[in-house]
Amino acid sequence: MRKKIVAGNWKMNKSLDEGLALASEVVNIVNDELTNDAIAVLCTPFVHLSAVSKIVAGSDKVFLGAQNMSEHASGAYTGDISADMLNSVGASYVILGHSERREYHNESNAQLASRVDVALEKGLTPIFCCGESLEIREAGTHVEFVSNQLKESLFHLDAASFSKVVIAYEPIWAIGTGVTATSAQAQDMHKALRDVLAAQYGQEVADGTTILYGGSAKPANAPELFAQPDVDGGLIGGASLKARDFVDIIKSY
Ligand code: 13P
Repeated sequence: MRKKIVAGNWKMNKSLDEGLALASEVVNIVNDELTNDAIAVLCTPFVHLSAVSKIVAGSDKVFLGAQNMSEHASGAYTGDISADMLNSVGASYVILGHSERREYHNESNAQLASRVDVALEKGLTPIFCCGESLEIREAGTHVEFVSNQLKESLFHLDAASFSKVVIAYEPIWAIGTGVTATSAQAQDMHKALRDVLAAQYGQEVADGTTILYGGSAKPANAPELFAQPDVDGGLIGGASLKARDFVDIIKSY
C-alpha cells in the first residue's frame, strides 16, 4: 500500500517563534486526534528547520522537510543549502521543483534531475513537484506537459531509486488562487500520471508511488480530493499555516 502523506509547505511565512508555535500545535493535535495511517510533513523555511526538528523529534506521525536544496555538495554557492546540511538538522523530506522555484528562480527540469539524484543519494525523500499553467490547461496539453516534467527530471532513475520519490501534482492555476482543481480533474491527472509511470517502470512501481495533490486544498475540499483512488494526499500551502485546518485536512482520509 502506498504511503498517505499530507505535507505543509509554509513557503516564506512565519517568524521563528510563530513557526515553533505552529509546529507544536500541529504535533499536539496530531497526537490527540489523528487515528488514520497518514503522516504529516512540515516543510518549513530553512532557518526554522533546526528548531522545528526538536519539536517533531519524538513523533512517528510528523516529519520535517525543506522547500528546496542545492544540487551541489558544498562550496562557493552563496545562499544555497546542501543535502548534508538538511540531514544535519533532521530533515527527511525535500520539496524539489515547486512551480514558484521554477518561475522565480528558473529551475529547469535538468537541474531538478540532479537535485533528485543528490537527495536520493543522501537519503532524503524528494517531493517532486509538477504542474501546468492555465494556458497549457486551456490548450489541452496538460498531460503531455506534466509527463514531460517527470520524464526529464525522474526517468533517468532506475526503478529502485524511483520508488523512493513522492510526486506532487500542483496545477499552477490552482495555487494560492482559491480555485481548486475539481476532484475529477485531480483524479484524471493523477491517473494519467500513474499510467505514464506504469509505462516506464511497470504497474507495481506505479501503484506504489505516492502522488499528492496541491493547489487551494483546504478542510472543506480535502475529503472529496482524498477520496479519489489515485490521490494519495496533499501538498498544502495556505491552509498549512493554521494547525487546526492542516490537521483537519490530514484527518479527512
Ligand atoms: P495553496 O495551498 O496555498 O494553494 O498552495 C499550494 C502549494 O503551492 C503547496 O506547495
